[in-house]
Amino acid sequence: MARPYHIVDHAFDVIVLGAGGGGLRATLGMAATGLKTACISKVFPTRSHTTAAQGGIAAALGNIMEDDWHWHMYDTVAGSVWLGDQDAIAYLCHEAIPAVIELEHMGVPFSRTDDGRIYQRKFGGHTTHCAEGEMAARSCAAADRTGHSILHTLYQQCLKHKAQFFIEYFAIDLLMDDDGQCCGLMAFSLEDGTLHRFRAKQTVLATGGGGRVFESCTSAHTCTGDGNAMALRAGLALQDMEFVQFHPTGLHGPGCLITEGARGEGGYLTNSEGERFMPKYAPHEKDLASRDIVSHAEGVEMREGRGCGENGDHILLHLEEIDDQTLEKKLPGILETVRIFKGIDARKEPIPVVPTAHYCMGGIPTNLHGEVVNPRGNDKNATVPGLMAVGETACVSVHGANRLGTNSLLDIIVFGRAAAMRAAEVVDADADVPKAPKDCEERILDRFDALRHNAGGEKAGQVRARMQHIMQTNFGVFRKQDTMQEGLDDLDEMHGEVDNIGCTSPDMTWNMELVTALEVQNLFEQASVLAHSALNRTESRGGHIRDDYEDRDDDHWLKHTTAWRDRDGSVRLGDRPVRLDTGRDDADTFPPTERKI
Ligand code: FUM
Repeated sequence: MARPYHIVDHAFDVIVLGAGGGGLRATLGMAATGLKTACISKVFPTRSHTTAAQGGIAAALGNIMEDDWHWHMYDTVAGSVWLGDQDAIAYLCHEAIPAVIELEHMGVPFSRTDDGRIYQRKFGGHTTHCAEGEMAARSCAAADRTGHSILHTLYQQCLKHKAQFFIEYFAIDLLMDDDGQCCGLMAFSLEDGTLHRFRAKQTVLATGGGGRVFESCTSAHTCTGDGNAMALRAGLALQDMEFVQFHPTGLHGPGCLITEGARGEGGYLTNSEGERFMPKYAPHEKDLASRDIVSHAEGVEMREGRGCGENGDHILLHLEEIDDQTLEKKLPGILETVRIFKGIDARKEPIPVVPTAHYCMGGIPTNLHGEVVNPRGNDKNATVPGLMAVGETACVSVHGANRLGTNSLLDIIVFGRAAAMRAAEVVDADADVPKAPKDCEERILDRFDALRHNAGGEKAGQVRARMQHIMQTNFGVFRKQDTMQEGLDDLDEMHGEVDNIGCTSPDMTWNMELVTALEVQNLFEQASVLAHSALNRTESRGGHIRDDYEDRDDDHWLKHTTAWRDRDGSVRLGDRPVRLDTGRDDADTFPPTERKI
C-alpha cells in the first residue's frame, strides 16, 4: 500500500530521545564535544519529569558532617540488597562529587549553609561508617525543588552549546538494521503532524520510567516508559523489571510526591494509635530507613488494622514539630502541594500519606558507558551497536532491588555524562550516517497506521485504567503467587483489547487520542514483562516483597532477570550475573551479608 506520508529525513551524529536530566546531561556533553547533536522530546524540556524530583542529589561532599564516598557506596550496595552491580555503584559514588561540583559551576542554585557551601540534608538509607555511625547528611538540595533547578540549568547549558531541539515530537520506534545496529528512530511532530526519520550514528534513549503502569504513582502522566517499549519491539531485553519502588509518602488520593526530605528535616510517621511505628521495624534508622522498608512497614500497619482515617487506608506524616521558618525555607513546595491538593496547612496538621509507585529500578540493561546490552547466548554483556540508554529507562544497574532516595538525580547526571564521554570516543564525525532497511520502516508504519485508522477500536483511556487496576491490585507492595497469577491471566485477556486500540480521528495534528493510544500500548508491553518477571522471582528482595517467599534467597536469586517480549506477546526470561567485583583498586567489594539498613 502506498503511504500518504512525506517523511522528513534528518541525519545527526547523535540523537537523544528525552529531555529530562539524563537526556539533557547527555545532550549537553555530546554537543560540547562538537558532535552534531539533536534532542527529541514529547514535552518541552523543562516540563520533563525530572522537574518533580524534590529532596536532592546524593554526593559525599561532607559539607555538614564527615562523609566518604565509600560509605555512600556501602549504603547503595546494601540499599540495592546486593543486586546492584558494584563496579557501577563504585563509579556512581566516586563520580558523584565532581558531578555535583560541576552542576554548581554550571549554575544550579543549591541551598547554602551559613558559610556558603552546598546545603546537604539527611535521607533514607544514607549512613556514615557503613551503617555503624549516624545517618548521613548527603543529599545536596535546592530547597525541595532540586530536580527543577537542575533541569533548568541543564537546558540553558544545552542551548549555550547549540544542541538542536525537536520539541513536542513523539517517537514511534527504533530504526534497526538487519545486523542489529540501531540507525535512529521514527517520530512525528505533534504540532504539525509531519513524520520524521531521524538517522544517527548513536541513539540515546533517555525516556524515563513507566510508572504510569500503576494506578497510584508519583510519576507524571507522561511517564509511559516509551523507550523501554521501543527496545522490546526492537527485540532487545529489559532487566529487573519486577523491582518497582513504592515511595512511603505519596499524598493520599492524588499520589503526589511528599519528599523524603520532609523526614530528613525531622518529620515522622504515625499510625491510627498515634504510635511512631518505624522504630519497631528499623530501630536504628527509624523513619529514615530505606524506602522498601518504610513502605512495607506502612503496608503492615494498615493491613493489621492500624491505618488512619475512616477507611484505615493511610498513615500520617507529621511536620508540625519542625519550626515554621525551616519549613518555609527548606520545604516550601511541600507546604504548597499539601495546601493545594488537600487543603491542609502542614505547619499545623499531619499529612495523610500512602506508599505510591515511584521508580522503576529495572529498564534497558547498559554497561558503565551507557551502551545498551542485549545478552546473546553465552555473551551476557553483548552490546547493541549505535544504541545507548541513560536514566530511569536504563538499568546499569546501580539501584538493584531498591534505590536510595537522591541516587536517581545522581544516576542521570553521572551516566548522562558517561554516555557523552563514550560518544565522543566512539562516534566518528566523518563517517556516513547509517540508513535502516526499508522493511523496518514499513513495519513501524504498519503498526502506526493500524492504530491511527482503527476508528472502531477500543478507547485507550479505558484500556489503560483496566491495566493500571490489575497492576496496582496484583503487583503492588505485597505480592504472592496466586494474586500475581490472577493479574497475569487478566493481562493476558487484555491482549486483544490492546491490539484493537484505535482513534476516532486519524488527524495527526495535536491528536492526543493518538498519542495516548501509542503510550498505552507502550505501557502494556512493560506491564506484561513486569508481571512475568515478578511471578518468576521466588524470593523477597528490596521492592519485590512476596508473602509466600518472605526471605531473600542469594543461593538462587543473586542474579538479574532479563526479559524479551516476542511479537505474539509471549515473554521469554533469562538471567545475568550480578557483578560483585568493583574492578578498581580504590574500592573493595561489599560481599552479600545480612542487611543492616
Ligand atoms: O523523596 C524525594 O524527594 C525523592 C527523591 C528521590 O526519589 O530520589
